[in-house]
Amino acid sequence: MDFSLSEEHLMIQEAARDFAQNELLPGVIERDDNQQFPAEQVKKMGELGFLGMMVDPKYLGSGMDTMSYVIAMEELSKVDASSSVIVSVNNSLVCYGLETYGTEEQKEKYLKRLASGEIIGAFCLSEPEAGSDATSQKTTAIDKGNHYVINGTKNWITNGNTASVYLVIAQTDREKGHKGINALIVEKGMPGFEIGPKENKLGIRGSDTHSLIFNDVKVPKENRIGEDGFGFKFAMKTLSGGRIGIAAQALGIAAGAYELALKYSKERKAFGTEISNHQAIAFKLADMHTQIQAARHLVYKAAWDKDQGNNYDLSGAMAKLYASQVAMETTVEAVQIHGGNGFVKDYHVERLMRDAKITQIYEGTSEIQKIVISRSILRD
Ligand code: CAA
Repeated sequence: MDFSLSEEHLMIQEAARDFAQNELLPGVIERDDNQQFPAEQVKKMGELGFLGMMVDPKYLGSGMDTMSYVIAMEELSKVDASSSVIVSVNNSLVCYGLETYGTEEQKEKYLKRLASGEIIGAFCLSEPEAGSDATSQKTTAIDKGNHYVINGTKNWITNGNTASVYLVIAQTDREKGHKGINALIVEKGMPGFEIGPKENKLGIRGSDTHSLIFNDVKVPKENRIGEDGFGFKFAMKTLSGGRIGIAAQALGIAAGAYELALKYSKERKAFGTEISNHQAIAFKLADMHTQIQAARHLVYKAAWDKDQGNNYDLSGAMAKLYASQVAMETTVEAVQIHGGNGFVKDYHVERLMRDAKITQIYEGTSEIQKIVISRSILRD
């Protein structure tokens, strides 16, 4: 067992840290205030290879491992979780899904452009009445021979307006239940495909979250991912890896808030000394540091499982459950350590606290992670 990072992983960590400090930090408060999508930053991340990190270079990806991906996600998320969710969805839901289950033609046509960052993608599973209960899909994709016709609405879709390619999960044969669900590649601009209103969110306000409306959208059969009826398994398998990315995002939010609180506690004076000299503050920092390190070990273990070819449903769910809890608790404490300054935007920790909440909700709520974990340990 080796707890040290390789030279290559350290280089990726440094590159992501530099990018976060130099490119994401400037303007992050304004983007959050104005709900402004980080278009320039996403373009640069594409050029640096952050949008197709694990994709084979033959499809214009960076050919890195999952460890590299979570290390980069942690660093980007320390500063700007709105940008890191774009990285996470594009990498672990869209690119991974297409590379693992797509046809050669789909990879040539879509994956290359997604992995190189020329365009970004969205993953469309959630519906007004099918969030956690994901098998209850109301959106239909009716088989018309050489094409499908999609009707319905998807909700809370990350990259909803900025994506060019959408992986849409929909019900083809209701009698077959989840075995009658398909995953289809939909392009922006296909007739009948409309982008709904943008959500006004508590956190990750720079990311672009929309509902999507499908009115008789004709999608060619060659845009189906996998065999007929594979759509639900496709979503579940893809989300298992997505959860590792969100766990790394939660870890980064926690670590970012902790680093700010640590620095502040050594500068801010109260009762004649730096506040870090007061045990009330020092003990908070001790708890935060311990929890973050434990979360990091869970995230690394899940990434390692994926890289080894082990099953990572359980380790990914545990990493997401714990890291998101740590993100929430740690950011609340970081605000507390900052006192009045923590409540104002200039100090960044209030934004990190707002951003932390979504990590307990998207890509499977904490309660869903407990379903996955408990089913796994009871089955084994
Ligand atoms: N890998 C492969 N197959 C899986 C699987 C996995 N990880 N998990 C479940 N399945 C299979 C099951 O084996 C079963 O197939 P069989 O009948 O052939 O055995 C089938 O899927 C149905 O599974 P369940 O019976 O377990 O289904 P369920 O109704 O009890 O629900 C659930 C399972 C885990 C709760 C699932 O519904 C779920 O994960 N819900 C949460 C959905 C979610 O994460 N949404 C996030 C939206 S995407 C997002 O947030 C992206 C973004 O933009 C940031």
